[in-house]
Amino acid sequence: VRHLLGIKNLTENDIHTILDTANQFKEVINRPIKKVPSLRDITIANVFFENSTRTRLSFELAEKRLSADVVNFSASGSSVKKGETLLDTVNNILAMKVDMIVMRHSSPGAPHYLSSRIPANVVNAGDGTHEHPTQALLDAFSMREKLGTLVGKKVAIIGDILHSRVALSNIFCLQKLGAEVMVCGPTTLIPKYIGELGVKIGHNVREALQWCDVANVLRIQLERQQIKYFPSLREYALYFGINRQMLDELDREIVLMHPGPINRGVELSSDAADSQHSIILNQVENGVAVRMAVLYLLAQQ
Ligand code: CP
Repeated sequence: VRHLLGIKNLTENDIHTILDTANQFKEVINRPIKKVPSLRDITIANVFFENSTRTRLSFELAEKRLSADVVNFSASGSSVKKGETLLDTVNNILAMKVDMIVMRHSSPGAPHYLSSRIPANVVNAGDGTHEHPTQALLDAFSMREKLGTLVGKKVAIIGDILHSRVALSNIFCLQKLGAEVMVCGPTTLIPKYIGELGVKIGHNVREALQWCDVANVLRIQLERQQIKYFPSLREYALYFGINRQMLDELDREIVLMHPGPINRGVELSSDAADSQHSIILNQVENGVAVRMAVLYLLAQQ
């Protein structure tokens, strides 16, 4: 496998190999000397056509901790604004002797398009509403770290499923690792095809919280909505927002996750996001080790 384009085509074994390798890198980056020479002489370009905080920074840190050379490209402020195509842009970056492309793009399938046309490894850092494979891997890593195994565990993905690439990659990843998955949200934010993926579908957030071992909460992606948003953010917060009291009142401990960025007061109250139930910042920490593992394994191909 030369590219990481999505979770859909990975095997359970591939995922365990990535997570086990990430475990070793997590030990490395907790040492006083965090760097290893594994990717010395490899040059990686982080090519971002959409905004990002966590993914871009953690890829850059992962690359630097593997001793790779790194260049960062943002579409805003680039010659994309003068009409240069995606393929021309990337071919010009590759002409500067770049070996790997980490790419985020608003069009579903953009990294797949690129991977069949360029000689470099391609890592999908999020393609529109399609997949966000490294987010699903770091989520699975964080759940496995907290719960020991995902086999037989119940994970509720709560929020805007329709516009979410995190939801789709999580569903593929969690099912391959033996977890049971529910998606929960307003009918307008759950895509029609989702039932074909073998997930439970719910519309009541309290019932979802009662059912699950892990609640992975997603934000409302206003930037992807073509039509006037329904329900409104106020209605969403009222009927689907999760607060600390709802978590404290459950008869057993559940793990609260969110890929970020959080819209505080909409899908999560601050007292829930910052509570002892939350492993949100552990997810961010684990993202560096997981991305180190992905880049290291692809560089061996
Ligand atoms: N989780 C995630 O992809 O966050 P960013 O958009 O900040 O990278």
